[in-house]
Amino acid sequence: VRSLQKADTFLQRSIGTDVAAAQAEAPPRDGSDEKDGCKSLHALQVERQEQAERSVLINCQSRTNEKKFLKYLSNHGDIKKYFFYESYGLYAVVEFAKRENVASLLEGAVIPSVSHESTVPFKSRLLSLRNLSLVDLSNQQSGLQCQPQTTIPINEFIQRLSKEESIDQQITSLTEAYQLTEENSRLRFLVCSLLKDIAAAYFPECTIKPFGSSVNGFGKLGCDLDMFLDLDGISGRNVKMPKSGLSLEYQMKRANSERAVTQSILSVIGECVDQFGPGCVGVQKILNARCPLVRFAHQPSGFQCDLTANNRVAMKSTELLYLYGQLDPRVRSLVFTVRCWARAHGVTSSIPGAWISNFSLTVMVLFFLQKRSIPIIPTLEHLRDLAGPADKSVIEGNDCTFVSDFSKIQLKSNTETLEQLLCEFFEFYATFPFSRMSLNIRKGKEQNKPEVAPLHIQNPFETSLNVSKNVNATQLDRFVALCQESSWLLQQRETNTPRGGANMTTAWGLATLLLPSQVAGIKSRKKRRREPASERIKGLLESLKNKNQPKTS
Ligand code: CTP
Ligand code: MG
Repeated sequence: VRSLQKADTFLQRSIGTDVAAAQAEAPPRDGSDEKDGCKSLHALQVERQEQAERSVLINCQSRTNEKKFLKYLSNHGDIKKYFFYESYGLYAVVEFAKRENVASLLEGAVIPSVSHESTVPFKSRLLSLRNLSLVDLSNQQSGLQCQPQTTIPINEFIQRLSKEESIDQQITSLTEAYQLTEENSRLRFLVCSLLKDIAAAYFPECTIKPFGSSVNGFGKLGCDLDMFLDLDGISGRNVKMPKSGLSLEYQMKRANSERAVTQSILSVIGECVDQFGPGCVGVQKILNARCPLVRFAHQPSGFQCDLTANNRVAMKSTELLYLYGQLDPRVRSLVFTVRCWARAHGVTSSIPGAWISNFSLTVMVLFFLQKRSIPIIPTLEHLRDLAGPADKSVIEGNDCTFVSDFSKIQLKSNTETLEQLLCEFFEFYATFPFSRMSLNIRKGKEQNKPEVAPLHIQNPFETSLNVSKNVNATQLDRFVALCQESSWLLQQRETNTPRGGANMTTAWGLATLLLPSQVAGIKSRKKRRREPASERIKGLLESLKNKNQPKTS
């Protein structure tokens, strides 16, 4: 319980509840965000979705005067919260008190007619506000505070890290700098809600929910936005054919598999997004992937979006990761640090390929934390045993049951510091018997590999699948070599002694581990056995194949 309370205060501190000081005279904050730390993911999603439905995204003129802008908008109703950000122009996210306020705003909005061009009359909540009287024409700075939606580059951050006084502080500071902010999280839900308006043309009762790193607690600013089109809430669905009464006449439109239905739904919604989705560009339908998806960029928010449907297991693994991240603050910090370290060394990449994915890496950290002599987090089997009747969940024959009530989980009193854990993490994977063993977070134990693959990580719910099927031997070797290097570095006195003081800029501790020069060191020091050409070509082909199959297991 103490750990849970600690986790709460940590999250309250780190989720970033402070909106711009520019809001001094702004509408009062409702304070709801402070409670995020102790909510289940489901409750959080419901609240954020509802907020998003009362919100609009407005493209503003530069030098917009904040007070006049708010006064103008409040003609339509009370504003509960708002913030500005920059991305190909100045944007504002404005949350109204009621949905009627948004309706009133849209009623007054004009669909512009431009000569030589025609527009699709689709009224979305992405608006553009042009009004000269709202702009500061004086030469003075507008003083408008923008909320950053991206982070500072890693090399600048390394300098900042070197000023910290302990490795633990470095790790905490890295987590705080790179995690999603309150505003970025709101923007993610708003983009899902805008997309829902499009999908609702076909399915008025649908919802679109973010999943993956946007909500699992491990997302870095700038990470992609994974969206899930949820049609389960449609009333009367999945009910057996009644003996009497009305049922929908779908005889002609039945497809021969769930997959075919998902593909046709995504194909149509993808087409709508492409044709009518304001700000949605580069729409690609990747319907033959194991998990069919529509990929596009949402320009006003800057998010790279992946829309999937019928992907309930991924939603469950998101919930599981969220739960683990909430149990002990060290979980999130360690995952963040390892993810940043991996990105800095090119172990992970934003392009799909034969490298380790962030999801795999997160499962590796969780597995390591289960394997401590006093485990920091319980096994998935234990979480399943604690589940109550309402937690029962079987999806396509896979048992996805685990406890949702955090208070039922008793944690062991492990007191290791983040510094110790980071060092041990590298040591653990520097010597892990990858060639024989598979990682299994259900049991919290390694097991003999059920099939040949350089890296085998059992999918927590679809247990016959390997989460890291895409990883080739070269990438695994690189990961292991880097773990060896980092573990060695952390044991050196030059690395682990704080340089301390605000004026010191020599890299030490975590900063040393993030320096790119260390990778070059590895290449020259370790003479690598060169793979035969056939292996390299095979790897290349694999990576090309994987490019169009981003979620392969
Ligand atoms: N997922 C899965 N099995 C995989 C890959 C992904 O179940 N082999 C699920 C996980 O729940 C994952 C989500 O799909 O969190 C989204 O996948 P992805 O975008 O690849 O990972 P993220 O965790 O979102 O990390 P990133 O920040 O790299 O996007
Ligand atoms: Mg993602």
